Amino acid sequence: MADKDVRRIGLFVGREWSWPPAFIDEVNNRDEGVVAEYVKVGGTQQDEPCPYDVIVDRISHEIPYYRSYLKNAILQGSYVINNPFMWASDDKFFEAGLATKLGVASPRTILLPNKDYIPGIVAESLRNLEYPLNWQAIVDYVGLPAILKDAHGGGWKEVYKIDNVDELLFRYNQSGTLQMILQEFIEWDQYVRCLCIDQSEILPMKYDPKERRYHVEDDHLSPELEARVVGDARKLCQALGYDMNTVEFAVRDGIPYAIDFMNPAPDMDIYSLTPFYFDWAVKHMADMCIKKAKTRSQEQKNDFRWARFLPKAEEEKKVAAKR
Ligand SMILES: Nc1ncnc2c1ncn2[C@@H]1O[C@H](COP(=O)(O)OP(=O)(O)OP(=O)(O)O)[C@@H](O)[C@H]1O
Ligand SMILES: [Mg+2]
Repeated sequence: MADKDVRRIGLFVGREWSWPPAFIDEVNNRDEGVVAEYVKVGGTQQDEPCPYDVIVDRISHEIPYYRSYLKNAILQGSYVINNPFMWASDDKFFEAGLATKLGVASPRTILLPNKDYIPGIVAESLRNLEYPLNWQAIVDYVGLPAILKDAHGGGWKEVYKIDNVDELLFRYNQSGTLQMILQEFIEWDQYVRCLCIDQSEILPMKYDPKERRYHVEDDHLSPELEARVVGDARKLCQALGYDMNTVEFAVRDGIPYAIDFMNPAPDMDIYSLTPFYFDWAVKHMADMCIKKAKTRSQEQKNDFRWARFLPKAEEEKKVAAKR
């Protein structure tokens, strides 16, 4: 196969050690004319071509340089998993409202004004804000106990169970410049975490939030509940456009409430997933990335308003030349 016909998948990764090499081996061993490797970057020129057909991004939420690099990669015609534009603009309050509009059960959620601001923000800067807040009305809306959490959070940082207004004020007063939400606490009978790949492959796993571990257990959901969970997870991932995600449900009285579905760099560690689910994640990620690399999918770029303004022929020439 001529070198220019080889399709390339690049990976941006952090410290995780189990999934990235397993994924690279899986892609490269399939011998399908697609190669996977770690991306190397350092000083990116404006409008620089991107040598990858597909990039899998596991870490740009913590490395802003990668995030900007990935936006340019989309401009150059690469397909980025997950879409950096959506990821950058997402938050758990927007997602809760979206779930409701999509007909997915969501705990009652309220968006709180920030506790603190960056230096330079003074009282006159905040003329749009009501003050003082009616904390009793806020608590009455979500009920008690409640969960206070960071709308952009991950890794259980800044997640607090709240039993009364005093506790809420204590935690809120420590939240600094974070964007906090307060949410109805779902007293669950069952907890399910779905690994979601390609917006449609959904693997519902029994999850123990106390141990933060998955348990391999067939038939942990009744067929009706499983169908609803899978359908809801699919709907959410398709609406958000996330190609890898975990969607979490707390089940109360047979109703799955979507708790957290903003996990665009989902945990794929072999220890938490267990080897069985880990293997599923490696294979399904390889299937998706190889498929997208082979078709040189432009669907992501074409979602953007700015794409309509790009000179077509020149763009296509550029994409062809960079391969
Ligand atoms: N509304 C809720 N009702 C009941 N439990 C909740 C609720 N919100 C969060 N939790 C509990 O807190 C945990 C962490 O919350 P959440 O998933 O929103 O935070 P996170 O930082 O994104 O965590 P993760 O890293 O597991 O994705 C959940 O796994 C769940 O056990
Ligand atoms: Mg999360």
